[in-house]
Amino acid sequence: MWKKIFGNTKDENSNTYTSLLENIDRTRLPRHVAIIMDGNGRWANGKGMVRSAGHTAGVKALKRTLKAASDFHLEALTVYAFSTENWKRPTAEVDFLMKLFSEYLEKEIAEMDSENVRIDFIGRLDGLSPALQKQIDDARRRTVNNTGVKFNVAVNYGGQDEMVRAVQSLAQDVKAGSLDPENIDSKLLESRLDTKDLPPVDLVIRTSGDIRLSNFLIWQTAYAEFWFTDTNWPDFTKDDLAKALLDFSQRDRRFGGLNKKK
Ligand code: FPP
Repeated sequence: MWKKIFGNTKDENSNTYTSLLENIDRTRLPRHVAIIMDGNGRWANGKGMVRSAGHTAGVKALKRTLKAASDFHLEALTVYAFSTENWKRPTAEVDFLMKLFSEYLEKEIAEMDSENVRIDFIGRLDGLSPALQKQIDDARRRTVNNTGVKFNVAVNYGGQDEMVRAVQSLAQDVKAGSLDPENIDSKLLESRLDTKDLPPVDLVIRTSGDIRLSNFLIWQTAYAEFWFTDTNWPDFTKDDLAKALLDFSQRDRRFGGLNKKK
């Protein structure tokens, strides 16, 4: 009843799954979690608000999630903030998002640094405004020696675009005579991807009910596990992340091989 009247009544402070996670064998947890933060627009529409209000609420969810990732001692967290296809959105929304990214960096970088977070960005960054590129560069440099969670923000990122750039880089070496095409293998290709310094993606989380990858980390997710929730991104909590991690810990990952017990 109340839910119908007020929309979401989810308890942000619920910690059912978070407490369960405390007793888990840590070797069963993912090293690298990647999140498709979807549903900002639907969250706002559902509350009779403009889409941009959903994105602003999405920033709060991101702050909660990064803190949770640190609390759960994840090695790496990668979030999909803006895809190579998101330029198709109305200019006002694109401009709003770019401003939001810039404000986020300005306001949050000091705290991230003090929390030992190493922030990095993946995607075609030269397609962003020079001012945002400078902020990204500064944020990277400032936190490069931090040893906590490796936090990666995918901006102007597309998995296909990333592959094209990787192949172009290999082709340049072939053209220059420093690489024999026969020596190209998956390891070498991986070394040209934006994620070259990161552990493999173990778990992909997508919020808001859509069940697709949307050009996110298409190479890196070859053997990833997937976890979907109907919760819109602005409502995603620390306990939701704990639930996903618990679910992951029960999965039987075989990587194309056989289960040891069988
Ligand atoms: C997808 O929801 C979300 C985006 C395209 C933007 C993601 C941005 C944020 C979560 C803001 C915080 C990010 C940073 C890095 C500060 P949608 O707009 O497609 O929602 P809909 O599918 O319901 O329309």
